[in-house]
Amino acid sequence: MIALNVNIDHIATIRQARGGNEPDPIFAAVICELAGAKGIVCHLREDRRHINDRDVELLRKVVTTKLDLEMAAVEEIIQFALKIKPDMVTIVPEKRIELTTEGGLDVTKDTKVYKELVKRMHSEGIEVSFFIEPEQPQIEASIQLGADIVEFHTGVYSRLKKPKEIQKELVRIRKAADLAKSLGLKVAAGHGLNYINVSEICKIESISELSIGHSIVARASFVGLERAVREMIEIINYSVLERKS
Ligand code: PXP
Repeated sequence: MIALNVNIDHIATIRQARGGNEPDPIFAAVICELAGAKGIVCHLREDRRHINDRDVELLRKVVTTKLDLEMAAVEEIIQFALKIKPDMVTIVPEKRIELTTEGGLDVTKDTKVYKELVKRMHSEGIEVSFFIEPEQPQIEASIQLGADIVEFHTGVYSRLKKPKEIQKELVRIRKAADLAKSLGLKVAAGHGLNYINVSEICKIESISELSIGHSIVARASFVGLERAVREMIEIINYSVLERKS
């Protein structure tokens, strides 16, 4: 089984377009869970461009599966996370000018900061995932820092067009996933995954979780959120079955 965690940032992005109350990401979280999502992901950015403090506070109360708070390793957000106590945090790099997270965190640098962050989160029972590139030094550093999970950045894979390049990137992700799992980490993947490119990622046995947002919210605008989530889960399950046959 591969668990689908749905990122609901873009529901909040639509709300922010008019600065009102709708659509409410809290309602979205409930629908995603009813459709079979195993977790809800949201990114509280320093500039609060989509998800805001109120959303995370309410999500903590409403989410019954797993709440994964994506965040940068900055003190204000760290303190907020320690207060709210999501089930897990995913540490990502964050730049003000980017449209979305543009690649993995380099956890071979600023190790003191990340080690301290892991210690503080663990003291409140919060699991820590690092969003990293599928590279051996990043995996080994994550282990040293005490991470529970690593999420491999699939943005590069999702943008490739040539079959040979896609295969090469899949091999890179598979190697990294196998290494991370063999070292005792839980392995997730995400960024840029959609109804087409998710299948090949699902064939990597060491991956146990996916974090998908944009493609599901985009499809939801045509078919509704519940159906969009169910369709993604069907593809994931079918792809997992295919790898066994
Ligand atoms: N994982 C991480 C760490 C992310 O930052 C994002 C984007 O918010 C996602 C997964 C989901 O990416 P997408 O919206 O392209 O599915």
